[in-house]
Amino acid sequence: MFVRPLLALAVPAVAVQAFSVSDVTSFARDVTSSIGGVVKRHDGHHGGHHEDHNEGPVTPARGLGECPSVWKDVSDDLTAIFLGDNGECTALARGAIRAAFHDCFPGAGCDGSLILGNEFTNFQNRGIPPIAEALKPIAEDREVGYADLIQFAAAHAVATCPMGPRIPAKVGRTDSDVAAPGTELPTPFQNASELIPMFEAKGFSAGELAALIGAHTASVQTTVDPENVASQDTTPGKFDNLYYKQTIEGNAPFTFQSDRSLAHDDQRTAGPMQGFANSQGGWNAAFTAAMVKMSLRGVENPGELVDCSEYLPRGTAPRNVRAAPINDRVRI
Ligand SMILES: *[C@@H]1O[C@H](CO)[C@@H](O)[C@H](O)[C@H]1NC(C)=O
Repeated sequence: MFVRPLLALAVPAVAVQAFSVSDVTSFARDVTSSIGGVVKRHDGHHGGHHEDHNEGPVTPARGLGECPSVWKDVSDDLTAIFLGDNGECTALARGAIRAAFHDCFPGAGCDGSLILGNEFTNFQNRGIPPIAEALKPIAEDREVGYADLIQFAAAHAVATCPMGPRIPAKVGRTDSDVAAPGTELPTPFQNASELIPMFEAKGFSAGELAALIGAHTASVQTTVDPENVASQDTTPGKFDNLYYKQTIEGNAPFTFQSDRSLAHDDQRTAGPMQGFANSQGGWNAAFTAAMVKMSLRGVENPGELVDCSEYLPRGTAPRNVRAAPINDRVRI
């Protein structure tokens, strides 16, 4: 009679009940979730999917496929730094397009290691630090994964550049801080006979390489020839196919050796590049497909990613600039 009340005081009813089998299982799952939340810090940010994974077979349950609304906030953050006063895309937007490739192409694929593994400080990634530093606070404040943010930012940037296509943007990748070797990145000094096998080794055809290199439509080189900072076509703020025409004709402000070689030395890339020079729509379609493929490189659960394309900009027109909150119209 005396012992019972003491026990009741010392061991709250909730704790006693926790010894039932189902509750222990549930507790273990919660602990696993917490640990998972630390190790793969961003895994929980695509809604309830994290628990779905732990609880057994993944079925297309209700809610699977819905983009967490935090990506709307991420999109607004990115618009503030990607859309310039002139309605064109900014240097940070151009950096974001490059960053997506730099995260996905080397090493294990699109895993955020460009930032989390500090790859961006390697000389092969020179030019990347400003966008890497700009994305860090967004990932931290919005609590989204780096691998996802890098890919979403690239899709956002392409859509923000006038004439850029809307590339489907999915989220749910797993982050890694294991740095990929910088030596796996192509350089602007390589020629077609080196670059084509390099891309084929990663599963990308010469035609896909020809489509991807068109990202240089929004490129301004600063490091290959620092004395001659210059764009790779005359309209670096637009996602147009002028890059192909000017690279082929040799009248771009600055053309990388690699791009000149791809445009002239090997018909497997030169042919498609001529085709893209003749067709903005043809290039948009090929670029979109190749970027989606790139954005899934090394991703182990592509079928479980959720589509967040709805939060990408609708396309850039001068009215978008006027519609932006005044404080967001920061010229970068
Ligand atoms: C491409 O570059 C490699 C290495 O510098 C060189 O051996 C090869 O001859 C070049 N090929 C062409 C077609 O220029």
